Parts: sequence; C-alpha cells; structure tokens
Amino acid sequence: SLPNNATIIEVGPRDGLQNEDKLVTTENKLTFISELQKAGIQEMELTSFVSPKWVPQMADAKDIVRHTQKMGRQIVLTPNKKGIDAALAAGADAVAVFVGVSNTFNQKNINKTTAESMEILKPLILQLKKDGIFVRACISTAFYCPFEGAVKQSDTIDLCRQFVDWGVNELSVADTIGMATPAESYRLFTELMEAFLETLITAHFHDTRKMALANILAALQAGVNRFDASAGGLGGCPFAPGATGNVATEDVVNMLHRMNIDTGIDVDALCKAVEAIEPHVSGTINTGMYTLYKNR
Ligand code: HMG
Ligand code: MG
Repeated sequence: SLPNNATIIEVGPRDGLQNEDKLVTTENKLTFISELQKAGIQEMELTSFVSPKWVPQMADAKDIVRHTQKMGRQIVLTPNKKGIDAALAAGADAVAVFVGVSNTFNQKNINKTTAESMEILKPLILQLKKDGIFVRACISTAFYCPFEGAVKQSDTIDLCRQFVDWGVNELSVADTIGMATPAESYRLFTELMEAFLETLITAHFHDTRKMALANILAALQAGVNRFDASAGGLGGCPFAPGATGNVATEDVVNMLHRMNIDTGIDVDALCKAVEAIEPHVSGTINTGMYTLYKNR
C-alpha cells in the first residue's frame, strides 16, 4: 500500500541551476530559495561547494548559505574537505557528498576513480558523524552511465552499503541521465528498502525520457516516500552528456496530492517560485502544473 505522506527534497537551487550557462545573481537565487521555503519546502539543497573552475554557477555558495533564512534542513553538496569546511563555516547544517557508481562518470565529474573518491570520503564522513552532522550520500549513475551504459545493480547496492556502514543518514539514489524504467526503479528501490532499514532512502530522477513520474510511482510502490525534485524541472549535471532536468517539483507534488499523499507543499506557491526564477534561466519552463498556472 502507498504511504500517506511523502517528503520532497528540493534540489532546484543546486542541481537546477548548476547546469545554467548564464550566471544567475546571488540575489535572484536567494529570492528563488525564499519562495521555495514559502511554498512549504522543508528540505533543500541550497548550493554546492565545488571548484568554481568546474562549476562557475556555484561560486557564490558561501553567500547563499549565509543569507538563507534557517528553516528545515539546509543541505549543501560537496566532494571534499575544502568544501565541507567552508560549508560548515558558512552555517550549513547538512552535507551531501556525491559519487558515481560508474568509474568513467566519476572521473569526468570529480576527476577521481570511484575507489579514490570513497577513500577520500570515508574519514570525512566518519568525522561529520562524530560531530553530529546530517550526512546525505548522493549515488550517481545508479542505473545507467552516459559513458559505460548499464550499471550492475549489485555494484550500486555495494556502494550504498559502504556509505551505510560509515553511518550516513540518507542515500539519494540517482538516475543521472533519466534512462531508468519503472520496472528498474521498482527492482532497485525494493532491494534498497529491504537492505537498509535504518537509512533514509530517497529517489532522484532526471526526466530526460519523460519516465520520471512513472519511476516515482514505481519507487512509491517499493516503499520509498522521499523524492528529490527541482522546481520548474530545471537541472542536469554538466558532466553527464545527454542528461536533462530533474523531475519538476510542482508535477510530483500535484501527483502525490491527487493520490492523497500529503507533502505539506503548496503547488501554487511552488509555481510562484518558478515564476521568480524563469526570467533568469535559459528557455521557457513548460512543466505541467506551471503551464496551467501561467494560463490560469
Ligand atoms: P581537481 O581539479 O581535480 O582538483 O578538481 P584540485 O584539488 O586541483 O582543485 C582545483 C581547484 O579547485 C583548486 O583551486 C582548488 O583549491 C579548488 P586552484 O588552486 O586551482 O585555485 N577547489 C575548490 N574550491 C572550492 N570548493 C571546493 C574545492 N575543491 C577544490 N570544494 C574537484 C576536483 C572535485 C574539486 C572538481 O572536480 C569539482 O569541483 N567537481 C564538482 C563537479 C560537480 O559539481 N558536479 C555536479 C554535481 S554532482 C550531480 O549533479 C549529480 C547529482 O545531482 C546526482 C545525479 O543526478 O546523478 C548529485
Ligand atoms: Mg542530479
């Protein structure tokens, strides 16, 4: 049976904007974030502390964290100690680390093999847990890699198990290039839910092939009730060719509400947040609920 409640982790300000070529001003990002908070978002990836040479759009990470009003769980993404130290100094209260199951993708994304990344992350995560900080581990290319093709599901589970052994609070398991099918979503998330009873399991779908909502339904049926989503369907990883945006928060929330699954989020207010960011990103935003909102 399906859950009565689900949690949305809004990733628009991070995954949504990181792929935008045109720099969005810090002020416009902060307005987007505060509109998302007003819509009822309680957990959000605010930004990422990564190399500004690799992702220029995220160069203002410190200012984003400093100037965001505290509310719910404020997560920042980072690959290394430099990023973690800067994030905590700025006042972040949760850290997301990220690694690809596939070596080639991990190398393109963080210039390290998957094993090298895990070696770097282990002591950092153990220290964060000692300090009582919420740690989320984002698992990229959990289903498919843009360079290597299909990923062995046992490799994904093995990587997740290492993070669980180190005490992470949450696994966000990602279909980086939006290629998974509902059958694959159901299979992997069923295994994850059975294997890791003490860890929050979150599904992160990109919508390249328009299967993200179907994949979310399949994950719901597997018992998952936490979903990453990006307002306006913005997003994509600059180092994953062929990936487009994340599933749109307003469309996920609408689907859940119509199925009597509560999220505590207001769809109209979400659309206001999308309206606030739309003029500052490339292209027009055509998600289902936002299009209805604009034509109302
Ligand atoms: P590198 O060039 O191998 O390493 O990059 P480096 O140590 O030589 O660092 C290069 C420069 O960056 C140095 O500056 C460092 O100080 C600086 P320089 O000395 O040349 O002036 N630097 C930093 N600056 C600020 N914050 C930091 C930081 N670290 C180093 N934390 C590195 C290695 C990992 C840094 C680089 O590859 C990188 O930043 N990669 C990030 C890529 C990224 O952000 N990808 C997108 C996020 S993941 C994603 O979207 C997937 C996800 O959504 C799930 C899914 O859908 O799959 C989560
Ligand atoms: Mg992503």
